[in-house]
Amino acid sequence: MPKVSKSDQLEKIKADIIKNNVCPELASGATQLVFGDGNPEAEIVFIGEAPGQKEDEQGLPFVGAAGRFLNEMLEMIGLKRSDVYITNIVKYRPPANRDPLPPEKAAFLPYLQSQLDVIKPKLVITLGRHSLEVLVPGLKISQCHGQPKRYNGQVYLPLFHPAAVLYNNSMRQTLIDDFKKIPQILARTENLPPISKPNSGPKINQPVEAFRPVPTAQGRPESIEGRQAQAKPAKSRPAQAKLQLEI
Ligand code: URA
Repeated sequence: MPKVSKSDQLEKIKADIIKNNVCPELASGATQLVFGDGNPEAEIVFIGEAPGQKEDEQGLPFVGAAGRFLNEMLEMIGLKRSDVYITNIVKYRPPANRDPLPPEKAAFLPYLQSQLDVIKPKLVITLGRHSLEVLVPGLKISQCHGQPKRYNGQVYLPLFHPAAVLYNNSMRQTLIDDFKKIPQILARTENLPPISKPNSGPKINQPVEAFRPVPTAQGRPESIEGRQAQAKPAKSRPAQAKLQLEI
């Protein structure tokens, strides 16, 4: 059987959202579906909240002010939009840009999960609390931003939403500082032990594993979390894994 390209598989998911009439009220108030944009072979997928006015007009995610800031930060770490894949949890613009409602996020989650199953990114970056809440339940963005987590075999990096920090200098700098960690975190995903159930979808009440840093050249991990990991008896850690993942 000929192999179906990732691009064609993504087109099929997009068609399914329309065929299955997902969130008909949102759909009827929106100009169009904003499914996703970028490279289906990407190693990194960014997931925002929901389209705004510009996204609704153009049918593409993150093309307004928040999108310009996201582009700048991508450039800062040597990436272009075409190197990554960008989407949202909710794929129609909510009226007057209100927050997406829990049933709307739940209705779109299986389609988002299918997008991730097709792309198989090494790193999923959640932008803001809405995509974090549905993908890695139980985490607070204010406490975990910039810290990679492994959940159901997938590595996530929770970040603040670019729109939320645009006009707040200190939060803006925090997002920039967190963003600069992306290349190093991506490189670390190479050393992970095999994933038993990649992208199998979030499960309720499943604990989140901390993603432990690789020891530095001096043998001392850079973060407190990593130092705590190192303080544990060596036999409790798998010998072959450079990166330690613990619950
Ligand atoms: N904010 C989002 O969360 N998504 C977009 O696509 C644009 C702004």
